[in-house]
Amino acid sequence: MSSAMFLFFLLLGSSLMAATTFAGNFYNDFDITWGSPRAKILNRGQLLTLSLDKVSGSGFQSKREYLFGRIDMQLKLVAGDSAGTVTAYYLSSQGATHDEIDFEFLGNVSGQPYILHTNVFAQGKGGREQQFYLWFDPTRNFHTYSIVWNPQRIIFLVDNIPIREFRNAEKLGVPYPKSQPMRIYSSLWNAEEWATRGGLVKTDWTKAPFTAYYRNFNANACTWSSSTSSSTCSSSSKFGSALMENSWQTQELDAMSRRRLRWVQKNYMIYNYCSDFKRFPQGLPPECRPSRFL
Ligand SMILES: *[C@@H]1O[C@H](CO)[C@@H](O)[C@H](O)[C@H]1NC(C)=O
Repeated sequence: MSSAMFLFFLLLGSSLMAATTFAGNFYNDFDITWGSPRAKILNRGQLLTLSLDKVSGSGFQSKREYLFGRIDMQLKLVAGDSAGTVTAYYLSSQGATHDEIDFEFLGNVSGQPYILHTNVFAQGKGGREQQFYLWFDPTRNFHTYSIVWNPQRIIFLVDNIPIREFRNAEKLGVPYPKSQPMRIYSSLWNAEEWATRGGLVKTDWTKAPFTAYYRNFNANACTWSSSTSSSTCSSSSKFGSALMENSWQTQELDAMSRRRLRWVQKNYMIYNYCSDFKRFPQGLPPECRPSRFL
């Protein structure tokens, strides 16, 4: 077989793998932890829905804790008039000095754009917001939101397009999430005081219940066991090579990914703490320096 042929079959195999085996089961991987009548696991564990009504929101969390990995989830956000609602999807450890990696989707009135808000907390300190519009309507179809988290960097991806990279800047004295295992959390709640146009637009409760959808969860990650204080990394699957499964461990942005990241940041980023000179009159945070300093 020629090497081009081989590559073709390799790629074919990996896309089939992505389509078939990457559908985790919500019963095995998650617990509904809040507002249970409003959260549902459906289709034998293939679909999860959260909803929000006048009484309360709802939420779930992963059964397992993770320490580094690539975590993918497909979400379809609250459609129609979602103003005042927030769908939070994030990784977090526990306690006052916790680490956290956040996606938050701020709803809007019909036809107006959601804001995708991102943040990174390390040892209890956040304040590292970047916000984006999306290049598609996130309420029409499912889209994949991913976090690649390794000791060197955190990469946020939307449909496999990197939108943000947070690099380890410990050399400059900036704490980095690397020793506290995190769970995956998601919740849908009412934040009409600030979510939409900074709180100007309130939730229209005549449109309730508001519903968000989840499917195709996949974690290629190291799972933490608190009983043995050790982690086990998923190393190979029935289909893929260990190399592909574990590429997140050393993943960095190649030239193509950098181009895509620049495209998103140039055209869709609406807030970046690293260019908010008003907020940091004494100088920008050290991790905002160009990468050659990190
Ligand atoms: C909602 O739409 C308004 C008007 O287009 C826009 O300014 C705002 O950024 C949008 N998103 C949110 C979450 O407020």
